Amino acid sequence: MTLKDVQKTYEANGKEDPLYAVLSRKDAKDNKWDADEFFATGREEIADAMNHLARLGLEVNKGRAMDFGCGVGRLTQALCEEFGEAVGIDISYSMIENAEKYNKFGDRCEFRVNTTDDLAQLDDASFDFVYSNISLQHSPPEASSKYIAEFFRILQPGGVALFQIPSGPRHEPGLLGAKIYAIKRGPLRRFWKRIRGMSPWKSTTSINRWSKRSSKPAAAALSMRRSKAPFAALASACCTAPFVSDFWDGPCFQAFVPN
Ligand SMILES: C[S@@+](CC[C@H](N)C(=O)[O-])C[C@H]1O[C@@H](n2cnc3c(N)ncnc32)[C@H](O)[C@@H]1O
Repeated sequence: MTLKDVQKTYEANGKEDPLYAVLSRKDAKDNKWDADEFFATGREEIADAMNHLARLGLEVNKGRAMDFGCGVGRLTQALCEEFGEAVGIDISYSMIENAEKYNKFGDRCEFRVNTTDDLAQLDDASFDFVYSNISLQHSPPEASSKYIAEFFRILQPGGVALFQIPSGPRHEPGLLGAKIYAIKRGPLRRFWKRIRGMSPWKSTTSINRWSKRSSKPAAAALSMRRSKAPFAALASACCTAPFVSDFWDGPCFQAFVPN
């Protein structure tokens, strides 16, 4: 999948069923998400993320945050509750139109379209915090790696990036491995969360669990090797303190403090 394909998909999603395209809860299909409930999931996620960083001993200045792949601004608006300003970046014009429509924070919450594989429109060292969830997984690994390098460029010294990346093996679309992987990542994972009493849609339950399990840099090698992206090289080039943990075959969150 190229970036153009990703953009095309999300342009259509943003016009047809934008909230469902972000959180695909079965009973919310066909524009049935209750917007208040939907945005509450974002507040819960960001609160969990902040707690996660606190447990890792990472202090974050509460000036300016960037939300990469912001969709309709579910997390960008939640970041505005914690930070002075938040900027949401998305590849899709229709998603950004929706984000602007739902924005309750006025100028403190800004949304921008970015269709390239860099973040050249954002200045060096201009953010205290970078966050991204369920977005980098849609881009080709080469583009994701470039975005991650950009996260470090736009962060102030001492800033923090917390982002999710796919940590499972890469399979060619259409092959059996890809189909099995999709079942594991989708229905099986939700089932697994359900029987453990978790909401299948609360992605940050994983953050809580990871932080309890480990925050060891050693875990980085595993998830980086499996994602077949040069994250290890990026991490050692950009970071003094990689905190990485993994969760089953699901996404992997990483918090980095740049040099
Ligand atoms: C599943 S939605 C998640 C939205 C948001 N992160 C959230 O959790 O509420 C994925 C979003 O990532 C955006 N996206 C995918 N690839 C992107 C890229 N290369 N650059 C910017 N946005 C991207 C899509 O347009 C879509 O709005």
